[in-house]
Amino acid sequence: MNKRFYLTTAIDYVNGAPHLGHAYEKVLADVIARVHRSMGVEVFFLTGLDEHGQKVQQAAQEQGKTPQAYCDELAVQWLAFVQKLGLSNDDFVRTTDQRHKDVVQAILTKLHAEEQFYKKPYVGFYSVREETFLTEKDRNPDGTWDAKWGQVNELVEENWYFKLGQHQQWLIEYIEANPGFIQPDYRRNEVLGFLRSQNLEDLCITRPAARLSWGIPLPFDPAFVTYVWFDALVNYFSVPASLGDPAAAGVLGFRSRVSVPEAEASGNSQLATRNSQLSLWPADVHLIGKDILKFHAVYWPIMLKALGAPLPKTLLVHGWWQRDGAKLSKSTGNVVDPIAVIDEWGLDAFRYYLVRELGIGPDGNWTDAGFKSRYNAELANGLGNLLNRSISMLNKYRGGVVPTPSDELKAEAVIALKAIEEKLAGFDLQGALVEIWKEVNRANQYIEQTRPFSLAKDPAQAARLDAVLYNLVEICRILAVLLWPFIPATSEKIFAQLNVTGSPGDWKLAAWGGLQCGHKIGAPIPLFPRKDLVPK
Ligand code: ME8
Ligand code: MG
Repeated sequence: MNKRFYLTTAIDYVNGAPHLGHAYEKVLADVIARVHRSMGVEVFFLTGLDEHGQKVQQAAQEQGKTPQAYCDELAVQWLAFVQKLGLSNDDFVRTTDQRHKDVVQAILTKLHAEEQFYKKPYVGFYSVREETFLTEKDRNPDGTWDAKWGQVNELVEENWYFKLGQHQQWLIEYIEANPGFIQPDYRRNEVLGFLRSQNLEDLCITRPAARLSWGIPLPFDPAFVTYVWFDALVNYFSVPASLGDPAAAGVLGFRSRVSVPEAEASGNSQLATRNSQLSLWPADVHLIGKDILKFHAVYWPIMLKALGAPLPKTLLVHGWWQRDGAKLSKSTGNVVDPIAVIDEWGLDAFRYYLVRELGIGPDGNWTDAGFKSRYNAELANGLGNLLNRSISMLNKYRGGVVPTPSDELKAEAVIALKAIEEKLAGFDLQGALVEIWKEVNRANQYIEQTRPFSLAKDPAQAARLDAVLYNLVEICRILAVLLWPFIPATSEKIFAQLNVTGSPGDWKLAAWGGLQCGHKIGAPIPLFPRKDLVPK
């Protein structure tokens, strides 16, 4: 049983519409998953939804629905969003799934038995209107409470705490000893800076059920439900554990919910095979946004250590999108609707822009002008034009029949492939696209330099024209393979126009010389219809 490359995204809060930030993270993860699959690595790509907590309970109440019914309705939209983005995820977890709740409870039971938790009263202030705890920082300068909080009560509330603090030194040493654990570097330094300068407090892992019922009940104290983050982080582990991954299930003494013989008996052969072959934990990559770094870099590793489970190999932390230099915000209307952009410009244009515009790390800025400019320059005029001219000329001058192979651009293609692979190995997806577009531009430049349209006028140049045409269509074929992880539908269109059978999602096909003499290609169809830049 081979361990798969196990890749996860953050699970999105179910309440609230899918926005650009969600789309970005999911597309990045999809590209990483496809890169690995293309290179022959077995992948398990998990995404999903975070459904418990106060806000969901309240919103459901306001709509007169049960929280479960409310979540089920919203989950339909999120699943449609996954489809819309063309994600190749292998599973979709909802924290309301029984399989997930079982694992959270098994973890709580185990840690409780091992005395990792204790109960203590919390004394503080609570705004009833805003349903939130207040601290001294929330007071007005004169010591009063602002009217917006409504009635403020001093509250004494018992809760369960997880002994986080005692692992602080271990965590510092772990992060120091494993430089690749948190990427990029500046995020790692941020976490180390925090850990070295502040005392890590124990983590409150419950809420009283009397106040918040929409959560996973604490198995050893029914007066409480589990704090949403303690619940949500476990998704990465609950899916492998419930699918019978020995590394995850074993830690819990937990048997897969559907054991292999049961699955076979039930006739679910797919599940049976899946179970018998699954080895996932530890995760290879948790892809997350910068705002949830502390949960993943501090709480989660300590939870896993307390459980006796290995830690994920990499936390890959991306930045945040703005639009026109301002924070995305529904209330100000400063948003980008991913679905509207996809409907107008096509999924691949959207995927391309997200990955090309913003590398994994810094913050980015969406502008409509920037999007259109990349669409026209890089997709329509760059890639689209290259394919169109190459296919049209082979049809026009050689009846669409591939001539004798030529190696003129081979050396450059080999060097480019190496550069692209290096970028991909370091999760530099943006860098890989930059390298791929060097090849696109080189091929377009090759057309200008070799002038096949002039060569065609001179019968003495027939062999030269053959060579040029071969190099052009062969580069197009290779580009389809290189681009498949990023813009899979476009790659498939390129293969179809070249009349090449099979999937472009196989990295080995990026080797030079795939097109054979005598192969008949198809007709040109524009990949990215040009759109004028006149504002609507
Ligand atoms: O935080 N740009 O859910 P969420 C880029 N449920 N990424 C953004 C973004 C933006 N403007 N806004 C949000 C949660 N994100 C928790 C996660 S994981 C066990 C639980 C990213 O719906 C954000 O950084 O608020 C996070 O990685 C993801 O979208 C989900 O955010
Ligand atoms: Mg958020």
